[in-house]
Amino acid sequence: MKMHGFLCFSFSRIFSRKGSRSSSSNNSSDAKSRMSNSDQDSQVKSGGTDASARHRFDEQGRRYHNRPDAAYMLPNDDEEIDRVHMQHWVIKIAFQGNFHAPVEQQLEDGIVVLDGGCGPGTWSLEMAENFPRSKFYGVDISGVFPSEIKPANCDFQVHNVSQPLPFAPSYFDYVFQRMLVLGIMREEWDTVLSNYMEVLKPGGWLELTEVNIPDSVNAGPKLTILMETLGEVAAQKGLQPGVSSELGKKLKKAGAINIHCRRIEVPMHHDGKLGSLLWEDFVTAFRGLIKPFVTKKHPELEDDAVYLKFVEDAGKECEEYQNYIIFYRAFGQKPTTST
Ligand SMILES: C[S@@+](CC[C@H](N)C(=O)[O-])C[C@H]1O[C@@H](n2cnc3c(N)ncnc32)[C@H](O)[C@@H]1O
Repeated sequence: MKMHGFLCFSFSRIFSRKGSRSSSSNNSSDAKSRMSNSDQDSQVKSGGTDASARHRFDEQGRRYHNRPDAAYMLPNDDEEIDRVHMQHWVIKIAFQGNFHAPVEQQLEDGIVVLDGGCGPGTWSLEMAENFPRSKFYGVDISGVFPSEIKPANCDFQVHNVSQPLPFAPSYFDYVFQRMLVLGIMREEWDTVLSNYMEVLKPGGWLELTEVNIPDSVNAGPKLTILMETLGEVAAQKGLQPGVSSELGKKLKKAGAINIHCRRIEVPMHHDGKLGSLLWEDFVTAFRGLIKPFVTKKHPELEDDAVYLKFVEDAGKECEEYQNYIIFYRAFGQKPTTST
């Protein structure tokens, strides 16, 4: 099958068994416990920045990258690594698999794969175990991936995907990128995809997965405030919060063919474990990151306890309104001949 346009072929809503629900109470662990031991010696004082330091810390002691060339909004400390590991399971279950590009047989036979913005490498590590004949490379602006304890067919390095990639042209058979919506600037997306196309072999596949911000299905008033604020903060930083619905278009612009898109709706804070985990995933950003921006518009929420109660109520509201968060996955192929 050869198509030079793209197809948005699939829509699904994920249902799971009714089960235990998460608590959305505040995580009371103190700031110090959030820092990994290996990074405590390189810390900047809480709330400080230092251009020469690898990390900066906010007032709550959360640790962030300190790269002037990267816009990524979320922390990179141990608490965040746990969240990203958990998010991997949410997305894998929601999409019913780790990937959708038609590369299963090639992965079995042995190919070379790039995981752009790999985070702690959860996807690559699992894929490397599942497909021992293939070789997986992960790159990320933060060195939060394992350097020693990992399968032999898995390697990681620090790199910003908006810069030319440190690999030869046509090196990879398959490039995968997931959940960089809060990391890639609006004007960088085309460059990032063109960087990926450069290192893809002709005939290789590029696959992207993102969550939609701020729109979701059946959002109540409190969740709407939180999601819209998250979207506004991201947009103010030059990011493109609504990029997920444009992934197919972006792949086409990058020159990909045989493009397929999939849109799914995942329950938030209802319908069992998946809904609970997805809420835990979002609540990190809601609790800390966007609070100053929410309270600017809603000063009545300034008090910490009042604000946390508001976030908790937004979680309950998701159950009441049967809210669904939207994710998109799109993949396309690098042409074998230039047309
Ligand atoms: C939400 S995590 C997702 C990690 C991984 N892709 C996954 O799905 O498990 C986003 C990751 O993208 C990384 N990141 C953000 N902007 C980046 C950039 N410009 N280049 C490389 N990595 C980036 C962050 O450091 C973070 O580890």
